[in-house]
Amino acid sequence: MRRLLAPVALLLATAACSTVPTTPAASDAMISPILTTPDALDSQTHARPQEARVTHVALDLALDFARKTVAGSAALDVLVRPGAKEIVLDTKGLAIARVTDGAGRALPFTVGAPAADKPEMGTPLTIALNGARKVRIDYTAPADASALQWLSPEQTAGGEHPFLFSQGQAILNRSWIPTQDSPGIRQTWEARITAPKPLDVVMSGVRQGEAEDLGDGRRAFRFMMDKPVPPYLIAIAAGDIDFQALGPRTGVWAEPAVLPEAAREVGDTEQMVAAAERLYGPYRWGRYDMIVLPPAFPYGGMENPVMTFLTPTFIAGDRSNNGLVAHELAHSWSGNLVTNAVWGDGWLNEGVTSYFENRIVEEVYGKKRAEQEAALAFANIEETLREVGADAPGTALHNDGKGELVGSAIAYDKGHFFLRTVERTVGRERFDAWLRQWFDNHAFQPATSRMLLDDMRANLARSPAEAAALQLEEWIFAPGLPANVVRPDPAAFAEVDAAVAAYARGGTIPAAYSGWTSAERMRFLDNIPKQRSAAQLAELDRALGLSQTRNNEILFLWLELALANRYDAAIPQAERFLGTVGRGKFVRPLYEVLWSGGEWGQGHATRIYARTRDSYHTVTREGIDRVMRRR
Ligand code: BES
Ligand code: ZN
Repeated sequence: MRRLLAPVALLLATAACSTVPTTPAASDAMISPILTTPDALDSQTHARPQEARVTHVALDLALDFARKTVAGSAALDVLVRPGAKEIVLDTKGLAIARVTDGAGRALPFTVGAPAADKPEMGTPLTIALNGARKVRIDYTAPADASALQWLSPEQTAGGEHPFLFSQGQAILNRSWIPTQDSPGIRQTWEARITAPKPLDVVMSGVRQGEAEDLGDGRRAFRFMMDKPVPPYLIAIAAGDIDFQALGPRTGVWAEPAVLPEAAREVGDTEQMVAAAERLYGPYRWGRYDMIVLPPAFPYGGMENPVMTFLTPTFIAGDRSNNGLVAHELAHSWSGNLVTNAVWGDGWLNEGVTSYFENRIVEEVYGKKRAEQEAALAFANIEETLREVGADAPGTALHNDGKGELVGSAIAYDKGHFFLRTVERTVGRERFDAWLRQWFDNHAFQPATSRMLLDDMRANLARSPAEAAALQLEEWIFAPGLPANVVRPDPAAFAEVDAAVAAYARGGTIPAAYSGWTSAERMRFLDNIPKQRSAAQLAELDRALGLSQTRNNEILFLWLELALANRYDAAIPQAERFLGTVGRGKFVRPLYEVLWSGGEWGQGHATRIYARTRDSYHTVTREGIDRVMRRR
């Protein structure tokens, strides 16, 4: 950290002697440093934060469910280097009505052209500051804003009211908030949001007081995030939702029809927060609430501060998919507190979090479950390396843009096994102390791979020889798996692996299945022979109750196996699943197996997708579009 103070001091010094008053929220707020080293240069923003940067965002927005638009204003506090004349923001499809300074004077602005080869980047909004330290942008976000998904009442459990949620990561928020949309540029924020009654609004900030009735059928909700966060973590959801408290600082929101089962499923959350704090230090965000969204939500979960967003598809009735909650909670340290400065270092968020998740699972559910979940993660790495090749460039943790990152196996699972290997090599006690100081010393700041590596050398390894034994460079910058990898204990799945072998040999269906853990069932379904006849599939389903399961992870594996084998009997259920669930991790692979299943599968895929495409979030839709255009 000390090393970085010089370039940072430049901007902080400007902050200290700024005479322009800022909002009360911003004036006493922390200002996070930006990094200025080449490895921290974000190629996915138009912003030039060394010249001028946003430190606080104040939104005043109205949600219009009929038009599917969000309109109003964003007032930004800006910090400029002496002599800088303009500020560059990220926008995507926003209709900018006017830009003014703190006194209401118009400021000249230009909206650049989108790059033909990078439409996802959106367009730079360049504003001439004319000395202003506050700029206000009046704008409307388009109905097709890529961060926003507007659900029809039919897409909700209640069926009566529409629903809206946002998904900012990685670079989608510029489609509804004009600011500097980079994980390395942290900003505090506040918002006033109006919505039609009876909808409730939640955000990834702390709600301020009760909703204000505006007397015109609408209400205004106020939120505040007084800790600097990267803008991808600004999130909103609105719908017919209720709240249930879980513990003193935890709770869950969901549609009334879903709330009881949602609250039951996440009943261990307070314990998880306590476990996480014991491991790596205080939870610094105040409350930890969650919202269980309608099934169209494109991810399993999203770590929006103080308000984790969750898919309802993790609800299994037995808390067996609660690694998801542990994961999003862990991001309150890895990701939200210490954030990858650039998305090419996404493993700093996801890999460190996957390791942390596993430690929470071990604390709350015990060693056996944690070991089994780690073994599944390791199998995912091995399978991916087999598919893409152990030296494919996209299999390095640090992504330099030369290779596509391959699914979740690298950033998540290889990242997890990197930390696990370091932990097992130096011992848990030393490792935990190191990770805790990493979070403490970089709290509310961006970080890069190089910084983590240097920090391990300086603050973890006791000698150059020990540092060398960790193979840090290789883990982070080289493809494949380094030789020192600590593999999962083969005993974790010894019984299941024997059952897989017995089934493959003689078709013996394991009688023990009904007593197995969820991870054991997944291991079995993942590893049995992929080619099955209709009779064999029917027998598996009958014996194991696969199509009847309440666990969507298991149901997904069953549907994938069934569709890969052109099993007609699975089509109605697959069609129902694809018609309600929008979680990319489930639906993309199902379209994929259909699409590779010749005329049979392509016919079904085309018919189902014609009906479902409009109901998916843009990220899910784009993923499937890529699958289906490939012939
Ligand atoms: N931050 C991610 C979701 C994400 C990743 C959104 C990349 C956009 C781009 C979230 O924390 C996550 O990892 N979700 C997983 C959960 C799982 C690993 C337990 C998911 O959605 O499946
Ligand atoms: Zn994550």
